[in-house]
Amino acid sequence: MQDQTATVVMLGTGGTIAGTAVDASDNVGYTAAQIGVAQLVHALPALAGTPLEMEQVAQVDSKDMSFAVWRELAARCARHLARPEVCGIVVTHGTDTLEETAWFLQRVLAPAKPVVMTAAMRPATALGSDGPQNLLDAVTVARFPGARGVVAVLAGRVHGARDVRKIHPYRVDAFDSGDAGAIAALEEGVLRCFRAWPAGEAMGVERLPADPQDWPLVEIVTSHAGARAATVQALCGAGARGLVVAATGNGTVHRDLEAALLEAQARGVRVLRSTRTRAGSVIGVPRDALHVAGDLTPEKARVELMLSLL
Ligand code: SIN
Repeated sequence: MQDQTATVVMLGTGGTIAGTAVDASDNVGYTAAQIGVAQLVHALPALAGTPLEMEQVAQVDSKDMSFAVWRELAARCARHLARPEVCGIVVTHGTDTLEETAWFLQRVLAPAKPVVMTAAMRPATALGSDGPQNLLDAVTVARFPGARGVVAVLAGRVHGARDVRKIHPYRVDAFDSGDAGAIAALEEGVLRCFRAWPAGEAMGVERLPADPQDWPLVEIVTSHAGARAATVQALCGAGARGLVVAATGNGTVHRDLEAALLEAQARGVRVLRSTRTRAGSVIGVPRDALHVAGDLTPEKARVELMLSLL
């Protein structure tokens, strides 16, 4: 049973869901991060009467997401999750890096209550804006008694933080959970659950450096035809402490790049192999010299490596 008095905290960070265009039929020439989260909520009559609190954490296009915003967001989530009257949190975000923030929050907070990220592929001013429905669905999930962990709610699907990925640059139904599949579907405000909600151990907000300069430099290099050792050498020269290689197929790496990565690893740089295929899991063997990132995408493997270096 839902507790009708429980509060959902809405944390705004920007994105297309808060974006505006001059022309309502313009779905690409808009400016992201223009409208505050409180205004987005007030524009939705279906949310009237639901106990909600709104806070603007940032107002950014998520391509520009920063460590400072991540840390502030994690800290505010932790603070609100600790309040007994709060049943869950909704984070409005841009779609472009939503999956990275989702994995970051899951690894830092591993919350026993739901932290529900949502976004939109069309700006708030669009004829067919998907933001209002996504926002409504996100609140439904944040109030769902069985929900926990960091999830993303978009286009009627609930995706887990580990699995969610943006797979299309334009389609409204732009997110997917790969082999794992969605956690649940949302149909007319009702959840149909397919599998378990995200769980795990929290790293804790207190381990996140206050100064963005103190976050370890971890970069992604891609293995491709003609890949060169010089890329890895330049990154190591710039102080990289970790490197993720977006490898081909089942984690294979161009021989020149591999030689440079092995050399970097021998000097203490942490290296992880992910796959650029965007689906599936890299299957390693015990004799592998470079560790594999399993089913984490290169971007999430980077988050993982960065957090493990803190
Ligand atoms: C963004 O990621 O902030 C802009 C793109 C979007 O939200 O779809």
